[in-house]
Amino acid sequence: MINDKKLSKIRRLIKDLHKGSPHKQPNNIGIIQEDCINFLKRIPDNFVDIIVTDPAYSGMNQKMKFGNGRIVGEYQKEGNCKWFTEFHDTKENYSVFLEQCKRILKKDSPIYIMFDSFSLLSLGNLVRDYLNVKNIIVWDKINMGMGHNFRRRHEFIIYATKGKSKLLSKGIPDVWQIKRVKNSKYPTQKPVKVFENMMKASITPNALVCDPFLGSGSSAIAALRNGCSFIGADVSKRACKLSIDRVNEYTMNKVDILEVRDEKEQKKVSNF
Ligand SMILES: C[S@@+](CC[C@H](N)C(=O)[O-])C[C@H]1O[C@@H](n2cnc3c(N)ncnc32)[C@H](O)[C@@H]1O
Repeated sequence: MINDKKLSKIRRLIKDLHKGSPHKQPNNIGIIQEDCINFLKRIPDNFVDIIVTDPAYSGMNQKMKFGNGRIVGEYQKEGNCKWFTEFHDTKENYSVFLEQCKRILKKDSPIYIMFDSFSLLSLGNLVRDYLNVKNIIVWDKINMGMGHNFRRRHEFIIYATKGKSKLLSKGIPDVWQIKRVKNSKYPTQKPVKVFENMMKASITPNALVCDPFLGSGSSAIAALRNGCSFIGADVSKRACKLSIDRVNEYTMNKVDILEVRDEKEQKKVSNF
């Protein structure tokens, strides 16, 4: 339960984030163009109910080489809207990130961090140094992606807690079948349902949700769909503008401008 004192502290932080943004936003959403670490440092200790995030790992692009090139090659060039700035996921950077996440999480609260296979192997173990790792969830995208060797159809999500957070149900599996977004407007845009599952498993309406690697704002839409407040950041101006337009439209008209969800199709595969 969030009392009036806590609610006014949340509103004050959101107002403060609005000051750094050129675009008008709903009063339960605070989105800012900022580096994840600087953004996290603005948030008081023991403040947020849940962190859900999908970091911009550089591991796969740095290490996975085919012939002389990297997997995404030209994608990383400045100004290419098919890709984004990567967070250099060295152990040092990632440790600072996890330390900040732990600090801002309320006691007995959860964090969900998405990982590709490369980053899971190189950085996943670090999460244990800061938080209690409870599960590795597999997001099964149902259809295979492009690629070499065994073609990837999944991503991982580490579910960890600060203290003793409990799930709201004992009947949730650790494989989630959710189709990827078709013709997405933002690179690596994730389905809102992935973030909604995290929230449905762990929090009730009115909670404060945080995502320091916002992208196109899928986690913000999931928070709105679940009656929660939301704070988030991205270094990209484009990502912030896209996310703010998206949350404004959702707040006014209940329309998600970046994802058309086929509820019937989802029901056929849904196990959550
Ligand atoms: C994998 S994408 C997130 C996609 C998002 N989950 C969605 O559904 O659209 C990662 C995002 O992190 C952002 N990013 C990269 N480095 C960052 C940093 N140091 N701080 C904050 N955001 C960063 C990128 O601009 C990119 O939008």
